[in-house]
Amino acid sequence: MNADFSKGKYFSPLSFRIAGVTTALSAIILLLLNNLLSDSSLLTNLILSLSAAFLIGITVYFISYRIHSDRLGALKKITKNITKKRFEDYANLNSDQKDELDYLVKQSVRASRTVEREIQRLNKIENYRKEFIGDISHELKTPIFAIQGFVETLLNGALEDSEVNRVFLNKTMRNVNRLIYLTKDLMEISKLETGELKSSLQDIYLWEIISDVVESLQYKAQKENVDIHVKDFDKNLQVRVDRNQIRQVLINLIENGIKYNRPGGHVEINVEQHPHEPDKINVEVKDTGIGIESKDLSRVTERFFRVDKSRSREKGGTGLGLSIVKHIMEAHGEKITIESEPNKGSVFSFTLTKSEYFPVRS
Ligand SMILES: Nc1ncnc2c1ncn2[C@@H]1O[C@H](COP(=O)(O)OP(=O)(O)O)[C@@H](O)[C@H]1O
Ligand SMILES: [Mg+2]
Repeated sequence: MNADFSKGKYFSPLSFRIAGVTTALSAIILLLLNNLLSDSSLLTNLILSLSAAFLIGITVYFISYRIHSDRLGALKKITKNITKKRFEDYANLNSDQKDELDYLVKQSVRASRTVEREIQRLNKIENYRKEFIGDISHELKTPIFAIQGFVETLLNGALEDSEVNRVFLNKTMRNVNRLIYLTKDLMEISKLETGELKSSLQDIYLWEIISDVVESLQYKAQKENVDIHVKDFDKNLQVRVDRNQIRQVLINLIENGIKYNRPGGHVEINVEQHPHEPDKINVEVKDTGIGIESKDLSRVTERFFRVDKSRSREKGGTGLGLSIVKHIMEAHGEKITIESEPNKGSVFSFTLTKSEYFPVRS
């Protein structure tokens, strides 16, 4: 064992106790033997036996000390470090004596690693929680203060002014709606992040669910003068997914395609066989919109990240849509990729697994 941990020599009560017992036993045995085998006086025998026993005791002390001092030092250091929440790499502790002490040292190193990992995990959760609460309060502030302002203005006389009272009430309503979207998305994301929302997989016809989502978004698309088109694919194609979650993914992606588009633009949904994995299909949501600069591309799935905050807010965005999409994809064990070119458009594509590749359920 590497002696890094035992700094200098120290007095070992354990070795002292072993040496003490050995000295006493040796003294008795030697005295008995001397008395039996030699003709010397009792006093001489006593002095001889005690001296020999003392020498044996000292030798035993040092041997015992050598055997365990390094490893006891290591144990002391490891446990002290754990108490102080200090973690080191104990890779230099290699011993091949294979006794109880070795076992204890190895167990302590293992315990130190476990505690370290657990503390890191808890710190991560704690940081995440702090950040999340900070983000939420920030997001809630804007609509709440706006509502407060409009209601105050109404109470201060605008209520009686038939020219502006409806305008202020409509603005108040828009902000209340914002709070509702935000709460809905926050509940969804917190359920996804805590793992409370388990995906319940079932076989569904993909064509059916896509048509359904497109139909429900048609009104929004028309309002923005954007055309949605689903490219023809096998209507019997079934995928094994959580119906509500995949619906949510499609809504979030298609809605973004509409919101971040230009008047007269298009959103196209394409379903194709995955080029490399026979059990998968690729679903593509492609738009001819404003696109995303490459520096922002990796950040769009972060919570509350928005390239243009005011545009997103104006269109009722919360900055949580893509974050929800990413979580759902992860829960399904599928991949999402984003390609985009500013002023040209974006392609969001994700994989899904075909039902026929799942074992038949009895
Ligand atoms: N299809 C798209 N085209 C251009 N930008 C997009 C597109 N989809 C998302 N983004 C950008 O990514 C940001 C995050 O998207 P999302 O999480 O859905 O939030 P939200 O739509 O509520 O703002 C958007 O604010 C927008 O800046
Ligand atoms: Mg969105």
